[in-house]
Amino acid sequence: MNIVILTGAGISAESGIKTFRDNGGLWENHRVEEVASPEGFKANPDLVYRFYNDRRRQLLAPELKPNDGHEAIAHLINTLSSKENMTIQLITQNVDNLHERAGAKDVWHMHGELMKMRCQETGEVFESLESFDATTPCPCCQQQGNLRPHIVWFGEHPFYLDKAFSLLALCDLFISIGTSGHVYPAAQFVSMTPDDCHRIEVNLEGTPVSHNFNEHITGAAGVVLPKLVQRILKDIP
Ligand code: APR
Repeated sequence: MNIVILTGAGISAESGIKTFRDNGGLWENHRVEEVASPEGFKANPDLVYRFYNDRRRQLLAPELKPNDGHEAIAHLINTLSSKENMTIQLITQNVDNLHERAGAKDVWHMHGELMKMRCQETGEVFESLESFDATTPCPCCQQQGNLRPHIVWFGEHPFYLDKAFSLLALCDLFISIGTSGHVYPAAQFVSMTPDDCHRIEVNLEGTPVSHNFNEHITGAAGVVLPKLVQRILKDIP
């Protein structure tokens, strides 16, 4: 059996990270294009560095923790991944590290990672818990101004798409959690699964792609996922 889980901002909402589309199109009080596009970065790099440094600091705050939804997914993965004839893969659009902090390994971060930076010259990626900006020398080329957040901005290609497509083509159970169905290609993942795949959507509300799912679980991820995981583990011998 092959299971694919896709998560979006909704799974981290109960940990205190704001989702993107719940605030009149503003992300932490900024227009998304201002802080999440190559054009925005070019127009005002200082603002963009500051924005991601703030997001990184927020993620490192001791009170910000994985919630019961992250814990339930990690439990499912860690219980099933050692079973024979079973694969379970987690693809996330989130740039936070809450899945990993809950114990999930090998998470496919298709929109990049907040705790990483990238050299624009060489493409090398570095872990960074620290703030960085245009004055920070790049660890690989020592040049200032070459580092950027390792985040996929609007207009850029998501990471690991080939991997995602091949997982979806063989998927028997697809679970999509806390994602608005507005951003492609993730929004079309559900329609790339085989006809006999069981597709579960977990969300507070319906989405533009809800009709592609054959089961809907309406509720907060932190509340409904522990029950869903219990049910799946009971159903799988
Ligand atoms: N439990 C379940 N679902 C929730 C919860 C919750 N506690 N809170 C919010 N949601 C749902 C909302 O109803 C909404 O459908 O999560 C979804 C969040 O949608 P978005 O804010 O649009 O986030 P997402 O779908 O992850 O955005 C995709 O867009 O801005 C870009 O790159 C960014 O990765 C992001 C991508």
